[in-house]
Amino acid sequence: MKKDRMYSELAKYYDLIYGWKDYEKESQKIHNIIKKYKKTSGKDLLDVACGTGGHIQFLKHHYRIVGIDLNKEMLGIAKKKFPKIKFVKADMAVFDLKRRFDIIICLFGSIGYMKTYNNLKKAVNNFSKHLNPGGLVLIEDFVPKKDYKIGIPWANFIDKPNVKIARMNLSKRRGDIAIVDFHFLIATKKGVEYLRDYHELGLFDINKFLRIMKENNFEAKYLKDGLMNGRGLYIGIKSSN
Ligand SMILES: C[S@@+](CC[C@H](N)C(=O)[O-])C[C@H]1O[C@@H](n2cnc3c(N)ncnc32)[C@H](O)[C@@H]1O
Repeated sequence: MKKDRMYSELAKYYDLIYGWKDYEKESQKIHNIIKKYKKTSGKDLLDVACGTGGHIQFLKHHYRIVGIDLNKEMLGIAKKKFPKIKFVKADMAVFDLKRRFDIIICLFGSIGYMKTYNNLKKAVNNFSKHLNPGGLVLIEDFVPKKDYKIGIPWANFIDKPNVKIARMNLSKRRGDIAIVDFHFLIATKKGVEYLRDYHELGLFDINKFLRIMKENNFEAKYLKDGLMNGRGLYIGIKSSN
């Protein structure tokens, strides 16, 4: 089965599908958290797994931003929306931009794509390497391991004049991996299309996650009430090199 259609064939619908998400309010919260915790004076911000740049739209008024994402279609949309911002196609586990930032954000559960603690360690180590001492990392959880429930049906509907979308899935799990298997019906003037889009996301234990952050030079804590309902936020201040 082809994976991650959401970020390739379906990228053009991403902003519609997540039209309910309040990126402006979240960005204001992010800005407040940065002001509270960051210990550097710089304003260089790296958005890891930036997608179509939902947060960049608002954070660009306060920071000098670079965005990275694994998916070229998502980056294509972000580039079109924000032509003055630099975007790089890169995997968060292995990227090397050969420079440092004051803030790194990795939001909306994107860290779940690391799937295993081994990959999570690589990503957190990489975030640490790309931060100035005193810099800040904000990582928004997918769903903490203890809170993920299986057997819940989910649905999301879009009803615009020229496009109708129904997206459904039933939450499943294999060990510590959440299985999110979306079924889409998309109606446009060209016809009605059925697509399936399969995602596997790691369910991480909060204490293990914090330990990995600490092992990578972060003074770390977990905010239970982060940016979105039901999703926590890991905050790490880079303590040294
Ligand atoms: C749920 S979207 C979040 C996008 C954006 N941050 C937002 O809040 O709308 C997840 C993003 O993670 C990206 N992604 C998945 N695996 C990745 C990886 N290993 N490295 C970098 N980006 C990745 C996908 O391409 C997608 O754009």
